Amino acid sequence: MHISVLYEEVITALRPRSGGRYLDLTVGGGGHSEGLLAASSPDGLVLGTDADATAIVRSTERLARFGSRIVLRQAWLDEAPDLARKTGFSPFDGILADLGLSSNQLEDAARGFSFMRDGPLDMRFDASRGMSAAEIVNSSDVTSLIALLREYGEVERARQVAEAIWAARPVMTTGQLRDIVSGIAKSRGHIHPATQVFQALRIAVNEELRRLSDALPDLLDILAPGGRLAVITFHSLEDRIVKRAFREMTVDNAVQPGFGAPVLSARPGAMLVNRKPIGPGEAEVSSNPRARSAKLRVIERMQRIA
Ligand SMILES: C[S@@+](CC[C@H](N)C(=O)[O-])C[C@H]1O[C@@H](n2cnc3c(N)ncnc32)[C@H](O)[C@@H]1O
Repeated sequence: MHISVLYEEVITALRPRSGGRYLDLTVGGGGHSEGLLAASSPDGLVLGTDADATAIVRSTERLARFGSRIVLRQAWLDEAPDLARKTGFSPFDGILADLGLSSNQLEDAARGFSFMRDGPLDMRFDASRGMSAAEIVNSSDVTSLIALLREYGEVERARQVAEAIWAARPVMTTGQLRDIVSGIAKSRGHIHPATQVFQALRIAVNEELRRLSDALPDLLDILAPGGRLAVITFHSLEDRIVKRAFREMTVDNAVQPGFGAPVLSARPGAMLVNRKPIGPGEAEVSSNPRARSAKLRVIERMQRIA
């Protein structure tokens, strides 16, 4: 089962309370949602979304005991704000995005996320639509492959890896791709050379960075005044996007030089709850190595100025 990362830190940051409303954008195995529901008892509500239909099924079972306090829907990160508005769920007192993939997805060979398990080269969070990793790899030219590997994986020897993939086409399985990469790139310490290549493809397949950038401003809009948005990232590309977006959201509160009055903007104001991202402690990393690179950033929407 997937172990929720930075669990206590998320619950502390979002301050669930009875009567509160929460949005879990990456419900996954349902662990964080379970914590939000338990801590907002007896009548807090959670809307849980995920691009992956199997995550919705799994969480439906796990969270069944909370009855009508939990509503689960399949949706991408950037679709969820609209869904929340249309279903009358917003505004929220707390929103969580715990990005990346769950252990359930990683360990299922048929989903094609892991180079440790041989399976079809798929990697789609929503397995019902869009192009699989194999379709992207086999239909891209070498230049696009190099760009993809560099941009989304910061892959060393990206040109050589892309050329080897190109020469071996069609690449249909995770094992085939892993062997191609292993023949070229070296391990970085204990990190397998295929790690970065698989990360790059997964990000491209699911348009993860674009969806994150598109969703963030919208998420601030669906927060209630005083509500908080917490985002957990697992690599520097995601963290950079969150850090920059949070900085832009707080810039609106700057005092105009010479006037001394707050700048009023169309966007709601916000303040950072933590200047530096929160990471896992040693105990968490040793019991759950997946938490190693996790970074939690939290922002709070300002109270309305009367
Ligand atoms: C790390 S897991 C979440 C685990 C969850 N917080 C828990 O405690 O069980 C990430 C989940 O987010 C989903 N996901 C990742 N990126 C997404 C996106 N852009 N839109 C929608 N879902 C996404 C994945 O399908 C996966 O189920």
